[in-house]
Amino acid sequence: MFEDYLRMKGLSIVSFSKQTGIPISTLRNLNKIRYDKWKIRYLEVLSNVLNKNIQEIIEELKNMGKNVVFADSVLDGKYDIENRRYIGSKNKLIAWIKSLIIEETEGTSFLDLFAGTGVVSKNMLDLYNSFIINDFLYSNEVIYKAFFSTEPFNKDIIKIKEQKYQKLTVCNENYFSKNYGGKFFSNNDATVIGEIREDIEKDKSLSDREKSILLASLVYSCDKVANTVGHYDAYRKKIQIEDRFKFELIKPIDTTGKDIFIHRVDANELVKKIKADVVFIDPPYNSRQYSRFYHLLENLVKWTKPELEGVAMKPPVENMSEYSKTKAPEKFDELIQNIDAKYIVVTYNNTYASKSNSSKNKITHDQIINSLSKVGSTRQFEQDYQFFNAGKTDLKDHKEFVFITKVGIFNEK
Ligand SMILES: C[S@@+](CC[C@H](N)C(=O)[O-])C[C@H]1O[C@@H](n2cnc3c(N)ncnc32)[C@H](O)[C@@H]1O
Repeated sequence: MFEDYLRMKGLSIVSFSKQTGIPISTLRNLNKIRYDKWKIRYLEVLSNVLNKNIQEIIEELKNMGKNVVFADSVLDGKYDIENRRYIGSKNKLIAWIKSLIIEETEGTSFLDLFAGTGVVSKNMLDLYNSFIINDFLYSNEVIYKAFFSTEPFNKDIIKIKEQKYQKLTVCNENYFSKNYGGKFFSNNDATVIGEIREDIEKDKSLSDREKSILLASLVYSCDKVANTVGHYDAYRKKIQIEDRFKFELIKPIDTTGKDIFIHRVDANELVKKIKADVVFIDPPYNSRQYSRFYHLLENLVKWTKPELEGVAMKPPVENMSEYSKTKAPEKFDELIQNIDAKYIVVTYNNTYASKSNSSKNKITHDQIINSLSKVGSTRQFEQDYQFFNAGKTDLKDHKEFVFITKVGIFNEK
């Protein structure tokens, strides 16, 4: 980027180096770093040479940054963000949701409040300049940092780790293998996963971005082979689990030029502190707790090595969502009241009629409408479940809903 900027000003790295005495190698290194991470010294030198003030230079760099792809941000990993099993992911619905958002809203900033996998934010990247991505799970936060961050990372370091981890076939017994070996993974695979996790933890030379990329890659690689039906509430009772684990990298998303803010907090607390033009709300609607379903990934990412309990080897309870309890309608109402936005977009499906207790909805359709109508005018859109799930039509009247509220506008159809 540094070189491109000089070129735009009719200068080359060589001539700039001659004028300023800064070695060419140092200037080339600046190319790999985002302008907002450059030492102020370089901006001062630019300011002297170009006879411009620093603020003007930063503005020009910012505008340029929107079109520049950083070589470092490209990593040809195997896993895209949607390549994981996650209950309630909106991946199949995203084209429909996006078309509604384009038609019904406008703005430059997007808040993904219950972001889950992060696929919604990914698909909105071309629509907004600024993104706030939040979920209270540790394993989701690390995935957002890995896929979306604009922090540079050293590709060589990641590739060296990849090679090292791919060579491991069996390692010493460790915390991970003792707890999960022969259950969620084969014994050998579990020793390898524990060994990799320990190596990532111990390597203090890794930047936060590099650590996040390696951890997210480990999460995706584990999820690919875990002996489960897609979540970790239980494992399949098999006599022999095969060795299948292979460490593969994720493929970070190019978010150059975007402002990305990542949080891991309770949604109801976050909305009291921030605002965005469009707020996207996709909470859990039944009693299934995400922190319990994905406990193994949470434990792997946190790596505090607590004692585990029960058949499914769960860690102590943390991050239990109020949205999965009887208080959910009150929590939802409080959330909506505290949102500072132009538009609120809510997704919902009507599984509350379901026979299974755990998949009965905690919030009814009417309660959603009631809360939303207190802050603005709401339009409702719906699609049959079959539309997204060709063939799997066991839930006949199952519908997906999107509500879009224009905040502060009343009496509008
Ligand atoms: C239906 S999922 C979101 C799916 C997401 N839209 C996607 O496409 O992957 C709901 C998410 O809300 C998170 N969650 C539940 N309660 C929360 C809370 N109080 N604050 C923040 N996140 C919460 C869960 O961890 C879960 O990832």
